[in-house]
Amino acid sequence: MTEMKSVTEATKTAAAVKAPVLPDAQTVTEVKHWTDSLFSFRVSRPASLRFRSGEFVMIGLLGDNGKPLLRAYSIASPSWDEELEFYSIKVQNGPLTSKLQHINVGDQIILRPKPVGTLVHDALLPGKRLWFFATGTGFAPFASLLREPQTYEDYDEIVITHTCREVGELEYGRQLIENIKQDEMLAELMGEGFHEKIRYYPTTTREDSPKMGRITDLLKDGTVFKDLGIAPINPETDRGMVCGSLEFNKDIKVILEDFGLREGANSEPKEFVIEKAFVG
Ligand SMILES: Cc1cc2nc3c(=O)[nH]c(=O)nc-3n(C[C@H](O)[C@H](O)[C@H](O)COP(=O)(O)OP(=O)(O)OC[C@H]3O[C@@H](n4cnc5c(N)ncnc54)[C@H](O)[C@@H]3O)c2cc1C
Ligand SMILES: NC(=O)c1ccc[n+]([C@@H]2O[C@H](COP(=O)([O-])OP(=O)(O)OC[C@H]3O[C@@H](n4cnc5c(N)ncnc54)[C@H](OP(=O)(O)O)[C@@H]3O)[C@@H](O)[C@H]2O)c1
Repeated sequence: MTEMKSVTEATKTAAAVKAPVLPDAQTVTEVKHWTDSLFSFRVSRPASLRFRSGEFVMIGLLGDNGKPLLRAYSIASPSWDEELEFYSIKVQNGPLTSKLQHINVGDQIILRPKPVGTLVHDALLPGKRLWFFATGTGFAPFASLLREPQTYEDYDEIVITHTCREVGELEYGRQLIENIKQDEMLAELMGEGFHEKIRYYPTTTREDSPKMGRITDLLKDGTVFKDLGIAPINPETDRGMVCGSLEFNKDIKVILEDFGLREGANSEPKEFVIEKAFVG
């Protein structure tokens, strides 16, 4: 009996020693898989976390070496939401996402509560029309800003462009915009009919869809303006936020500068701001 007890206690002690203590732990409350390479999830929000819609934080899991394995992630939920939402790629051999893609409700992740970023309203001068230019998971910060009341208070029109390789990769954004239109709480928060300001312009590049092509090409040849029946980009009225791969960001920057817009920052608001959706 004594021996059994001591074995149990020894097991408990070993478990207590081995059990990794997750720093800055938050609990997963929802997981949705959108395609083989994309998923979204929601986690509990630290009571003390304040952030501006559009910012990003470092999140992750404990690595095999017992140390936190963290990556930058845009917060996809708005600043007023009681939980935090993230929209993620699944990179097959990616150190973090090869594991993160397997999280389930009730699991814990690490979330460092230090939000930063340039895709915030404060980094833009006042304007009338706001453009969100996203490719792939670059939609995430705009999922936050599209649910932020200030977006509709500050602008008469919001154009959200999202370019992906395949149709399925647009689904998270498409459903989010559809849900915004039907959300009674948002209507109460932002005023009836607020969603009529949203112009959604999804395009694909490698699978057939109603609108094919890179948004960069569609901007350069004027197709976007023609399709939406709107005036071309003008530095007096238009503001932009950009989130995609490094190459995409570089190309859009040149286009916006050709239209006469200047890149701004938190410390120096101007007509457009840029953030990388990923490194590499
Ligand atoms: C400011 C910032 C915000 C970010 N926000 C998000 C976000 O909201 N959602 C998200 O999924 N990722 C985001 N990322 C990328 C993220 O930090 C990680 O790179 C990603 O989670 C993959 O991690 P990993 O360890 O599995 O692979 P890593 O070693 O980090 O990446 C391996 C390779 O996978 C590719 N890759 C990485 N991330 C992406 C991506 N998002 N889309 C397409 N290809 C990618 C790149 O080629 C990269 O070199 C952000 C990055 C930055 C710098
Ligand atoms: N998404 C997938 O199905 C998939 C599958 C396997 C592996 N991967 C890997 O995952 C990584 C990221 O893939 P991703 O599709 O998420 O991101 P991505 O390669 O950045 O492409 C996302 C979208 O942005 C467009 N785009 C890329 N560069 C652009 C530019 N300079 N100007 C305008 N548009 C631009 C792409 O068009 P184009 O199609 O014209 O490039 C595509 O429609 C890559 O390393 C890729 O090899 C992705």
